[in-house]
Amino acid sequence: MQAIIGGTGLYQLTGLTVTRRQVVRTPYGEPSGALTYGRIGDSDEIVFLARHGYGHTLAPHRINYRANLWALHEVGVRRIVSVATVGGIGDGYTPGRIVVPDQIIDYTHDRLHTFFEGGDQPVAHADMTLPYGAEMRADLLTAAEAAGIDVRDGGTYGCTQGPRLETAAEIRRMARDGCDVVGMTGMPEAALARELELDYGALCLITNDAAGQGASTGTISLDEIRNTVETTMQGIHAILGSLVNL
Ligand code: HPA
Repeated sequence: MQAIIGGTGLYQLTGLTVTRRQVVRTPYGEPSGALTYGRIGDSDEIVFLARHGYGHTLAPHRINYRANLWALHEVGVRRIVSVATVGGIGDGYTPGRIVVPDQIIDYTHDRLHTFFEGGDQPVAHADMTLPYGAEMRADLLTAAEAAGIDVRDGGTYGCTQGPRLETAAEIRRMARDGCDVVGMTGMPEAALARELELDYGALCLITNDAAGQGASTGTISLDEIRNTVETTMQGIHAILGSLVNL
């Protein structure tokens, strides 16, 4: 079964016929909300979860990533698309564009980031050379093409701690590190998905130029982020609809 984890601006899926909802508890606590099951068109049943809660009450550092991933795995999910808004850093990573990233740098701290807590468990080191699942990335690109939505294939996602936005100097450093986009939720989500051997990919919607980048070096307004989300989220919906019906 496939799951979609929705980020900022994506609290429900266009065209989803909801079949049921399920509250799941996990050894790691509670997920961000109930799992919503449904179909888009003739698709198989899929699961949707709003990462920040259905009323967007959870800040990026307060999300229980472990509970979210565990709950999805527990109910039989093996593939996940993560949808997230990001700021653009690299050339061509401009507001309104959608990116299917292929690399991650983790700048977060103090997040519960692993299922391997020691004790009697053998030590495990999940391989993260390629942090996103190859199959899911390929399917996302195929789905975007089928939906006629232009997406950028590849890019490095830098994950910051939030909830504050970055300073211009932090973004300059991230640019030197090779980051193309910046967001706050990509990690530890991707690493936890890998620990559970899930095929995990991301669709990132660039909502703004990252701090100090782009034509305007002014400040980032939340209104700008909200406006871009509103005008460009339909592309994400189109890709998701196409993906689950591939
Ligand atoms: N920085 C971090 N996360 C974000 C941004 C940003 O500029 N825009 C949307 N999510």
